[in-house]
Amino acid sequence: MVLDDRAGSTASVADVPNDIDAFWMPFTANRAFKKRPRLVARAKDMHYYTPEGRAVLDGCSGLWCTNPGHNREPIVEAIRTAATTLDFGPTFQFGHPDAFRLANRIAALAPGDLDHVFFCNSGSEAVDTALKIALAYHNATGHAGRTRLIGRERAYHGVGFGGISVGGIVTNRRTFGTMLTGVDHLRTTYDREHQAFTKGEPDYGAHFADELERIVGLHDASTIAAVIVEPMAGSTGVLPAPKGYLQRLREICDKYGILLIFDEVITGYGRLGAAFAAERYGVVPDLITFAKGITAGAVPMGGVLVRKGIYEAFMKGPEHTIELFHGYTYSAHPLACAAALATLDLYAAEDLFGRARRLEPLWADAIMSLRDRAGVLDIRTVGLTGAVDLPAREGAPGARGYEGLERAFHEEGLMIRTSGDTLVVTPPLIISEAQVGELVEKLGRVIDKVM
Ligand SMILES: Cc1ncc(COP(=O)(O)O)c(C=O)c1O
Repeated sequence: MVLDDRAGSTASVADVPNDIDAFWMPFTANRAFKKRPRLVARAKDMHYYTPEGRAVLDGCSGLWCTNPGHNREPIVEAIRTAATTLDFGPTFQFGHPDAFRLANRIAALAPGDLDHVFFCNSGSEAVDTALKIALAYHNATGHAGRTRLIGRERAYHGVGFGGISVGGIVTNRRTFGTMLTGVDHLRTTYDREHQAFTKGEPDYGAHFADELERIVGLHDASTIAAVIVEPMAGSTGVLPAPKGYLQRLREICDKYGILLIFDEVITGYGRLGAAFAAERYGVVPDLITFAKGITAGAVPMGGVLVRKGIYEAFMKGPEHTIELFHGYTYSAHPLACAAALATLDLYAAEDLFGRARRLEPLWADAIMSLRDRAGVLDIRTVGLTGAVDLPAREGAPGARGYEGLERAFHEEGLMIRTSGDTLVVTPPLIISEAQVGELVEKLGRVIDKVM
């Protein structure tokens, strides 16, 4: 298939046909997509627009990124200004003002003494950075034997070797060899039998945190560096932490000197009605990873927040020496910093985290209204997220979900995410009440069509 989108392009570019075959698309069924592409060419606020100009309601904030909506003018303007002011500024041994300004702004939003920020460019890099900081911290404090990392089943922590090692999605792991050694996993917090159709955090399941005690008993605390969890597992279909679960994990980590990492790549910046899920749950982890919503997806950026004591543990030895041998060429890129500062301003000016919090009950009721549709096995909601589990077709897991994704886009003008046969919706935080209704109606029709 050749795209007819070359009007106005320069001759040399136009000589290359825009065949859609060359792009090996990430996390995509390439063959199916290329038979029937789902293309977006433009976006504004709550909508994408196809190259033909058809509006598509953004039911998933792009990829859980565009929390304040698309192409918001203050963010666009900030990027434009940054691009003409400082195209690139190295942050190895040099710095630029916006990087420091942004670190302060992010730290001010974080709970407790999470007041230092390490920048990178994606959630995957943030996870690998956090894991490395945890290992290096123990090394710096005389506990070099603490090298074991604990993740959880059904966790998604990006695609770096660290992230897939602590992650718990079998398809992301099975073809990539042994990965990091010395990793163990908690069980998932999801138990449909006891939690089905819960709005928000399920009452059942705090005790799943006690499994960390079992893991400590097996390996000994002196070998364990850190536990990493998503406060709400997003990528495997919106699995909110059971009530009390995160508090219990914090207590056990404290008891054994294990660092607790919250992967807030999805839950950060308003998705759960607070700057971070840590705030919603009143639990202060030792490290928080973030990405996505920090720049509203407009420029890639990720980062890790660390507690004061962790940062200070590294600040020793001769002053001319590098304290942490880690970083990325594009750490705190000027365009990303500008986008992030403007995004944080917008969140504050429009009180978007508060908006998400206030909308949550209406949103949860709306999504839950789909529970009696034929085939629906479970619905989960928390913050402005929702997931509908549908049964797999015999011998074809994921086929129903994929059909739902296609039908939503082509027939209903709705962009959703799928995880296997689970349909997931996570709209921008600016969604209006009327648009919540529209989204749920469209989703309901998609469910009916694929069942
Ligand atoms: C919890 C979590 N961690 C890490 C990542 C990886 O982020 P990225 O795709 O920016 O590398 C994601 C992406 O969805 C995520 O949900």
